[in-house]
Amino acid sequence: MYIQDEKVVILENGPTGNYFKLIFECHGALTRALPGQFINIRISGEREAFPLLRRPFSIARMLSSTNKKSKRIEVLYSVLQIGTKLLSLKRKGDFLYVLGPLGHSFPLPEKNEETIIVSGGIGIAPLIFLFESLDPQIKLSIFLGAKTKREIVHRDVFKRKNLNLQIATEDGTLGTKGYVTAILSRYLEAHRTTRSILYACGPRAMLKALDGICDQWGLRGYFSWEEKMACGIGICLTCACPVKTANEGTNMVRCCTEGPIFETSKIDWDYFV
Ligand code: FES
Repeated sequence: MYIQDEKVVILENGPTGNYFKLIFECHGALTRALPGQFINIRISGEREAFPLLRRPFSIARMLSSTNKKSKRIEVLYSVLQIGTKLLSLKRKGDFLYVLGPLGHSFPLPEKNEETIIVSGGIGIAPLIFLFESLDPQIKLSIFLGAKTKREIVHRDVFKRKNLNLQIATEDGTLGTKGYVTAILSRYLEAHRTTRSILYACGPRAMLKALDGICDQWGLRGYFSWEEKMACGIGICLTCACPVKTANEGTNMVRCCTEGPIFETSKIDWDYFV
């Protein structure tokens, strides 16, 4: 797919719950991004060298613009270190250079396949774009998990007829107290299902638990893998992810180009123990 480094103008950048929401207008290749793909943002200004490396972000929403040829991309991010701290200081009207769209997108559900979406914390970001791209007629369940209520953002977006939306927070400030994997397991026990596809993004421990659940219930699982990335285009090799080989070995692949969407049965989970 055609990728582009586009100079974009910020329309909005500010806090939402425990995260930040960035919205910018784009005109070129970015307007054709698919759910699950990501972008690499240069945070340094035009005459600055710091931070030297770009930062990868999921696309949380693709919004329409007043200009028919443009789109508005929304990004949700946590302020963790210097790169995201500097990004959080950008204001409406500032420019950014955004490289994308990058990586592979989520495969879409097959006909009559029940769809399950599971998020953990800021892992909700790529799943919002996926949710908004799905056929409104499909059978859909969404399980949102987080440490606390302020990490459950964009609940208002998840509106659809017959949608099964469940929330779990570790401190019990919203929804069921506990892990999102527990409410998912209870749902599967009560609504045993065949032909389901599960999409997830979140902390690695949650994804590993979900891999076990997919195995137990025979679900096809696709995870958006979060990894440190520098170039985003397959050159620097900073984003290695272990996948199984046909002869039970392990192959390290680049998350930015072979991912960031991986089928969970292909990931070599033993590599992480
Ligand atoms: Fe450079 Fe993946 S980020 S190879």
